Amino acid sequence: MFIESIELKNYRNIKELELKPHKKTSVLFGDNAQGKTNILESVYYCATGRSHRTNNDKELVNFKKDAAFIKIFVRDDYGRLDRIDITVRSNGKKGICINGLAVKRIGELLGTLNVVIFCPENLQLIKAGPGERRRFIDMEMCQIDKLYYYNLKQYYKVLKQRNNLLKNIKKPDDTLDIWDMQLAEYGADLIDMRNDFILKISDIAADVHAKITAGSEKLSLEYKPNTDKNHFYKKLVQNREKDIYYGNTSVGIHKDDMNFYINGVNVREYGSQGQQRTACLSTKMAEIELIKKEKDHYPVLLLDDVLSELDKKRQEYLINNIADVQTIVTSTGIDDNIKSICKDGSIFYVKDGMVEKQ
Ligand SMILES: Nc1ncnc2c1ncn2[C@@H]1O[C@H](COP(=O)(O)OP(=O)(O)O)[C@@H](O)[C@H]1O
Ligand SMILES: [Mg+2]
Repeated sequence: MFIESIELKNYRNIKELELKPHKKTSVLFGDNAQGKTNILESVYYCATGRSHRTNNDKELVNFKKDAAFIKIFVRDDYGRLDRIDITVRSNGKKGICINGLAVKRIGELLGTLNVVIFCPENLQLIKAGPGERRRFIDMEMCQIDKLYYYNLKQYYKVLKQRNNLLKNIKKPDDTLDIWDMQLAEYGADLIDMRNDFILKISDIAADVHAKITAGSEKLSLEYKPNTDKNHFYKKLVQNREKDIYYGNTSVGIHKDDMNFYINGVNVREYGSQGQQRTACLSTKMAEIELIKKEKDHYPVLLLDDVLSELDKKRQEYLINNIADVQTIVTSTGIDDNIKSICKDGSIFYVKDGMVEKQ
């Protein structure tokens, strides 16, 4: 799939913008703090219904305005054109329309536009806390599988209710049992789905990693569920007294994690910095291929200041392997690498929230 146009109004520092990205590569270049990442963020928002930088939607609205508007036209591989309109108000409320029809749930938006975003922080995925890795799993899976999104949403709703209850009771009661049963039920499905997802992405990432390292390193990803799905309910029951004491749920998929191994050795604990970064790059590249496999089309790739973070060999690998993927890349300068990926593409200069095609 590819984006035909992006229109923004009052979006962060962008007053008004219309940008027609190239079918292959578009480079947004300009100094820092001009609005390059803001543009990528708006695209990401249309794919996922949320920002990759903030949970607070109010931030997306220009300081001096009441509402921000995003409009994106996206064409799929069969020629079908979809229009996504999103309005975010300064009170944090948002409205989403697909082809002029309002959608009530973000679940209905998911899949209209698929994106993979790659920023320098993603190279820290292995070193970062488990929350980042869960976020990686969730953001990828929600784009692929609406059922996953729905279950995850229900799970967190029940978790919130359970945690509220824990804070208000002195000993376990019937309501707690209802939440425990529901949590274990949604949780079990999510554990299965996460397991399946990590097996799939591990296979693809292993292939990519083998190519980047000329076959010398075998990468594998392993799911580390916090609890076995068959013991989830039992564990909730066992931990009730403790959970009431702390006012928090101590077991569940909200504590899951994943591990990365190279040649059987845990990369987080024993890998060199270079190995960690390469494993992160391989995993990111695998995200693109997995979407292609599952959805039968390539996502749009958003590369935010990431090329300069990679050495020459890895840059080349990345560039040579995204030929079929519409890519929007930001950069503070135009160097040889940017020129080489832009042989087939457009260059846009971004300054003060305005964009000029070069
Ligand atoms: N809600 C907002 N209203 C107005 N300007 C904003 C808002 N949010 C962020 N900005 C501005 O956007 C700019 C940052 O844009 P960004 O896209 O991150 O820059 P870069 O070009 O470095 O990627 C900063 O100047 C910041 O002050
Ligand atoms: Mg930026």
